[in-house]
Amino acid sequence: MKFTVLTLFPELIEGAMNTSICGRAISKGVLELKTCDIRDYTENKNRRVDDYPYGGGAGMLMQAQPVYDAYAAMAAESLASGKKPRTVFLTPAGKVFDQAKAEELAKEDEIIFLCGHYEGIDERVIEEIVTDEISIGDYVLTGGELASLVVMDAVARMVPGVLGNETSAGTESFTDGLLEYPQYTRPDEWHGKKVPEVLLSGHHANIEKWRKEQSLQRTRERRPDLLEKFSDQ
Ligand code: ADE
Repeated sequence: MKFTVLTLFPELIEGAMNTSICGRAISKGVLELKTCDIRDYTENKNRRVDDYPYGGGAGMLMQAQPVYDAYAAMAAESLASGKKPRTVFLTPAGKVFDQAKAEELAKEDEIIFLCGHYEGIDERVIEEIVTDEISIGDYVLTGGELASLVVMDAVARMVPGVLGNETSAGTESFTDGLLEYPQYTRPDEWHGKKVPEVLLSGHHANIEKWRKEQSLQRTRERRPDLLEKFSDQ
């Protein structure tokens, strides 16, 4: 999987992605990361990439030219071979990201991420290059970088070979539509709190049953919206 990130802050992306599990996957060559500083592509002599919005209003917009030229440089190889790469624009106005979307994106060979700043990006370049507009939730960040990192991390862990233990990708919250059950490790008593007896019993069927009940109870309390979806399936 190759991730290419169009951004005004490449160091933010490099720093986060070259750490921990994604960093190890990059070193192993399972993931490839390329960052592109959009500012390097501006034709403005003062290296500006933003301008005032037509029609007025607060804030500045990123202009189409530097964004398009950065994209064209990064996508050149794919475009030359007749393939338009999946291009994700991170925006609070996008569709809300979820595990199903992470799994869908993980099937691609290459994804380009476009991170906006200021009040947004000229709509015309979005129309031309973007295939998916994604929000990571109903709140507004200062830019798309942190959102792109969230999406890349969730996609990366679904790419075969990224997680050391392949099975752990499937057993956590959301893969069966429910929140994960509580887990415990040694010691069996800590701060006066005991690990639930059933987990020490070695009785696998009872353990499974307990975990399912815990998942259902948590989901009912914390995310009743998920439970409704689950019961529809
Ligand atoms: N950029 C700013 N806020 C965002 C959000 N919530 N999701 C994705 N991109 C964003």
